[in-house]
Amino acid sequence: MAAASDHEAQQITDAVLRNLTGTGDARLGEILQSLVRHLHAFAREVRLTEAEWMAGIEFLTAVGQACTDTRQEFILLSDTHGLSSLVDVLTQDAPAGATQSTVLGPFYVPGSPARANGESMAVHDPAAPAVIRGRVLALDGTALAGATIDVWQTDSSGFYAVQQPGAQPEDNLRGVYTTDTDGRYELLTVRPVEYAVPTDGPVGDLLRAEGRHAWRAAHIHAIVSCPGYRRVVTHLFDGDRGYLDSDAVFGVKPSLVRTFTPTTAADGSAMFTLEHDFVLVPDHL
Ligand code: BEZ
Ligand code: FE
Repeated sequence: MAAASDHEAQQITDAVLRNLTGTGDARLGEILQSLVRHLHAFAREVRLTEAEWMAGIEFLTAVGQACTDTRQEFILLSDTHGLSSLVDVLTQDAPAGATQSTVLGPFYVPGSPARANGESMAVHDPAAPAVIRGRVLALDGTALAGATIDVWQTDSSGFYAVQQPGAQPEDNLRGVYTTDTDGRYELLTVRPVEYAVPTDGPVGDLLRAEGRHAWRAAHIHAIVSCPGYRRVVTHLFDGDRGYLDSDAVFGVKPSLVRTFTPTTAADGSAMFTLEHDFVLVPDHL
């Protein structure tokens, strides 16, 4: 009986795969055929019931319905289940010494304001200031003038400005800095904090069902670009805060972990300092 239904199941898989052989775009055909093979194998392996399949459909429907202009629940699903980090690791081939990439995340909003070196992007945040300065370099050590660093992070209560329209200024904790003629940049901000990814939607329900926490290791996002060099989407992780070993989206790479040093500002107040160079790979490598 089981053998007969296994045979029927295989026939369905084979029929679908045959139907996909005419896919016009060869790469799309390869992806779809592999996806169908793995999806069908998964259903066979767990002996998926109709009720479970329907629960899955309802879950994916809810994920789609939770998406808005400012919320991407599908990216969150991918991130929290390691797919985004897997794709990053599979596709990044940065040579040793280059700044490694990590996940983009769902809170990147293009069009951050251009900020002068030394300008604070903490438009509204009571936490102690943190200065991050350094250079953008090419792999061979050449300083890169005119490179841009598009930066965004949560405020010290753990929310991105885009998550709190009205409560935070739209441009809080985000900005685009440009290196000077010596390749130097200096951004003023606050130390990043650990924060929970949004758990008020279907992905949150899933995390709870899985018995998992939703915390991300404390980080600042950066997209570093310079004409003639590969753009890198990366993070700076704070090595003295939590969840480095259990980041909810599997995004921590040891090479991206840094230490903020407590220092004293000119007026005697407490602040933090971090010296950090970004290293870009030429396009032709
Ligand atoms: C973030 O770092 O902004 C992020 C990444 C993945 C999921 C949620 C948030
Ligand atoms: Fe983040």
